[in-house]
Amino acid sequence: MGISLSGLASAVANQGGIGVISATGLGLLKTLPGKTYRESNILALYSEIQTARAKTKGVLGVNVLAAATDYGDLLLTALEAGIDLIFIGAGLPLHKPREISDDKWLSILSKTVPIISSGRAARLICTYWQRHYNLIPSAFVIEGPLAGGHLGFKKNKIFHPDNHLEKLFIETSLEIRSFEREWNKPISLIPAGGIFDGADIFRFLRLGAQGVQMATRFVGTHECDADISFKQAYIKCEKKDIAIIDSPVGLPGRAIQNEYLVKISQGRMSPVTCFWKCLKTCDYKKAPYCIAEALRNAQLGKFEEGFAFAGETAYRIEKLVSVKELIDSLVQGYTKELQYFKQKTRLLQSSHRRAR
Ligand SMILES: Cc1cc2nc3c(=O)[nH]c(=O)nc-3n(C[C@H](O)[C@H](O)[C@H](O)COP(=O)(O)O)c2cc1C
Repeated sequence: MGISLSGLASAVANQGGIGVISATGLGLLKTLPGKTYRESNILALYSEIQTARAKTKGVLGVNVLAAATDYGDLLLTALEAGIDLIFIGAGLPLHKPREISDDKWLSILSKTVPIISSGRAARLICTYWQRHYNLIPSAFVIEGPLAGGHLGFKKNKIFHPDNHLEKLFIETSLEIRSFEREWNKPISLIPAGGIFDGADIFRFLRLGAQGVQMATRFVGTHECDADISFKQAYIKCEKKDIAIIDSPVGLPGRAIQNEYLVKISQGRMSPVTCFWKCLKTCDYKKAPYCIAEALRNAQLGKFEEGFAFAGETAYRIEKLVSVKELIDSLVQGYTKELQYFKQKTRLLQSSHRRAR
């Protein structure tokens, strides 16, 4: 929420990546005079996309939560603002929201990259889209349990070996293979969650990934749209501070432990005032705190009333760099790993030849 807006997204797109703007809670960050949160959300998303577009000719995406109560409006706004790609998480993009016409829904789906946490979800989406819309996705993000923010795994399964990202990646590749064959069309598979350096990227590209999705690492950039104290929380944190929390949304989440989270876990919170029901799955009458408000506060650097979502690798970030420096170092790390791999392959081949 507010971590990747037009600043970070355009900087990433300018370096040849896909810059993604989060469409979540923009109305809370930028409430416009005389407008409701819902109206502000839509207007702010449109304006963020336009601002990013003015700064880059590169590829831009938005991240929309299927669990958002204004999901349909956000999708329509992104489409109207001319976005290139729509990443949909926190639920599967299966049913057409009522407010979207059939033709606009097809335009939205043609740009949609569903974010999933299992091969089963990929199969379900392909089967549903094929049957109802006569198409299949062009790409999926397969997000593993080391990611930051809300996680698509039960709390007791987060560290289960079955849920290693490599395993989920291979399982999902196998699930989508039959659809790729039937449609004679490749489906790009993009792993996410715990990918930190060029060597990690190399490992997944070797497995057949067409790209990777990274979030945590990009919080450690000057261009990240969060307050400087949000970024400093990443630089200061240690491995032991990365915690799994229960979110009022009904999912576990990964965040940096702080006093506010301790207060929540001890039940020392006042009743929640709900600005507007932003997420379908939030039972705000029972929730110990408002997650949207807590994340908004953290984005603004107000950690007495908020906390930072972060991936498992956040403690490895040592200093702030520019997006260009970060991407250059990832490319360098990748190239080094590739050279090492080629050298090792050549040595193995020559020792095989000698053995024969
Ligand atoms: C601060 C932060 C905020 C995030 N917010 C969202 C979000 O709004 N929607 C979403 O689908 N994923 C969100 N994520 C998950 C990322 O999009 C990404 O898939 C994941 O964190 C990748 O793992 P990494 O952080 O180890 O690179 C967030 C992650 C972080 C660290």
